[in-house]
Amino acid sequence: MRIVENRKELHAYLAQARADKKQIGFVPTMGALHKGHVSLVTRSATENDECVVSVFVNPTQFNDKNDLSSYPRTLEQDCALLEAAGCTLVFAPSEEEMYPEVDTRVFDLGPVAQVMEGARRPGHFNGVAQVVSKLFELVTPTNAYFGEKDFQQVAIIREMTKQLKFDVNIISCAIVRETDGLALSSRNTRLTAEQRHKAPVIAATLNESLQLKETKSVQEVIDFVISTLNNVDEMEVEYYEIVDGISMQPIKAWSDSTYCVGCITVYCGKVRLIDNITYTRD
Ligand code: PAJ
Repeated sequence: MRIVENRKELHAYLAQARADKKQIGFVPTMGALHKGHVSLVTRSATENDECVVSVFVNPTQFNDKNDLSSYPRTLEQDCALLEAAGCTLVFAPSEEEMYPEVDTRVFDLGPVAQVMEGARRPGHFNGVAQVVSKLFELVTPTNAYFGEKDFQQVAIIREMTKQLKFDVNIISCAIVRETDGLALSSRNTRLTAEQRHKAPVIAATLNESLQLKETKSVQEVIDFVISTLNNVDEMEVEYYEIVDGISMQPIKAWSDSTYCVGCITVYCGKVRLIDNITYTRD
């Protein structure tokens, strides 16, 4: 596995791969890797000749500067996990390497960017689109892998890819969970022992709501999830929305979409956790 820190070396390595007509798989990450990230890397390594992983804590997508400075940076440990998962090239650039000039691009990603995380984290998805578009230009992947844990992010990436006409397949991958159901996240380590003990109630409540779908309206299911979680000490739901899995627009009736997904953001103490569940999919 090669580790490169600048565009020039990345370009040289990939020019050879492209000349050899190799398929390039790509997994963008911000490091602090866990089994969720590793599942994407394993899949990318299986489905492509080259498996490129970027490790870059992208400043332009953080709307909270404390969140940015406290983001864990564990490159050495990450590289050990990546090598074991079949990664062939790690791209770990500095901020100057990624942003030699300020990126002033403002994306208009339309309705997918205006709801849920887009409405609550101003500038976040613009920063994601900036960095992923730069990375796509540098890596020119055949296939790029994203986790459904960040469900709306996948829709953002698809829209950005369409607008900028990147010739890449966007592949979304299932959420990896702890055995108790909690979706893996680098933020889970910020939970106190007590909060960590309670956090699986999020996935459990979403799962329970699957049964209710048969007899309850969309609004009743939303109310059930919010009130159940808000009744748990230290938990506060920021939003729970049931949306069409492609357009991200809220649905009113189950028949409004053949792909209904519930997306949640919950504060567990000070830690902001996200999760989602699919109710129907054609
Ligand atoms: P990061 O949070 O490091 O996540 C990298 C990728 O891992 C994302 O596609 C994310 O959805 C996926 N992932 C995280 N936890 C997962 C889990 N439990 N199961 C499955 N996949 C999981 O998302 C980002 O970085 C950044 O926004 C990025 C796309 C790299 C742009 O900076």
